[in-house]
Amino acid sequence: MKLFVTGGAGFIGSQFIRDWVKRFPQDEIINFDKLTYAGNLANLTSVEDHPGYTFVRGDIRHSEALLEAIPHGADAVVHFAAESHVDRSINGAAEFVSTNALGTQVLLDAARHRKVARFLHISTDEVGGSMHPEEWLKEDSALKPRSAYAASKTAAEHLVRAAGETFGTDYVITRTSNNYGPFQFPEKLLPLAICNAMENQSIPVYGDGMQVRDWIHVEDNCRALISTLRGGRAGHTYHIGGGFPRPNRYVLESILAMLDRPKSLLAPTKDRPGHDRRYAVNFDKIVRELNWRPLISFQDGLRQTIHWYKDNQQWVKSVRSGDYLNYYKEQYGQSLSQSKAA
Ligand code: NAD
Ligand code: DAU
Repeated sequence: MKLFVTGGAGFIGSQFIRDWVKRFPQDEIINFDKLTYAGNLANLTSVEDHPGYTFVRGDIRHSEALLEAIPHGADAVVHFAAESHVDRSINGAAEFVSTNALGTQVLLDAARHRKVARFLHISTDEVGGSMHPEEWLKEDSALKPRSAYAASKTAAEHLVRAAGETFGTDYVITRTSNNYGPFQFPEKLLPLAICNAMENQSIPVYGDGMQVRDWIHVEDNCRALISTLRGGRAGHTYHIGGGFPRPNRYVLESILAMLDRPKSLLAPTKDRPGHDRRYAVNFDKIVRELNWRPLISFQDGLRQTIHWYKDNQQWVKSVRSGDYLNYYKEQYGQSLSQSKAA
């Protein structure tokens, strides 16, 4: 197969590429990524010399760059590229609308012109908005996004469906709950808490810390994405969940216990404006149709993730200092412009 992956230098996209190369080493993968603060080629060193893998630096909002990079008749576009952090969307929504909504449209158009067979769109359970205590988001539930991030991802989903209706684009949409695992930028709750706790720094707890998120290990998510890409029905949406909804405080206390740090590191702060209280995603459909289910327990996944952050402090230091380009040069003895970047 020939895949065109957007945002493959980010947290989930890089896991997807590493996993795909391991499972299907004969396939070709083009990773098209702008390398924002969240994109990091150090996430992909294990595949950078793989003969089927190519990196192209580019922006999904640039039609010409896409038309040049997408191989004619590719088997699939796998669309991860996005601005992904809710807190940043509160401080600057325009970039989210531009990348997540407009960028998706430009990519859909380019994929159609290049006659790509399938468009796998990576969406989020946040499009459903905050769930009531007994409510579960199903694939056909009403979409009620409440943050600019979620609204921009909802717009993107609608544009994908519109391309299906208007042009017959073969698409599959996935909506995943909160991913965690290695290589996650330490602005999201779990890696932020691990990194801060390791350094004996306080961890901001928004509001009462009783907001519920459903945690899924990124490897489980990527296994589901591979299944939906290969076996999902055209025009369908599939939910992917960890089956582990827990309040933030539970997650934070688990991290502190594993790192042998005191609960006094938890620092209640003012709440995130418009904070969604609870996400809960029903993923019966993917279990029923594609025989997928999460395999990594939260305790095992968290232990493995903590080990990874302990063992990769240089990576953490570099992404935290924003000094990634220097880090890359020091680690790999070449500047980014000498890598396969176009
Ligand atoms: P991330 O922030 O780690 O990575 C995003 C990647 O997209 C980066 O490599 C960045 O450089 C790239 N990018 C951003 N703007 C771009 C542009 N204009 N052109 C090309 N590349 C661009 O994000 P992530 O956590 O890996 O999330 C990946 C996708 O999964 C996103 O679409 C996100 O909405 C979705 N998602 C994430 C989660 C989660 O828990 N992290 C859950 C559900 C859905
Ligand atoms: O549900 C899927 C979504 O999960 C993805 O679509 C998003 O891309 C991803 O960022 C994530 O969104 P959240 O807002 O749920 O993730 P975040 O890690 O930012 O926050 C998780 C919870 O922890 C949330 O209730 C806010 C809270 N929080 C977060 C941070 C960063 C804190 O209490 N303190 C913090 O410092």
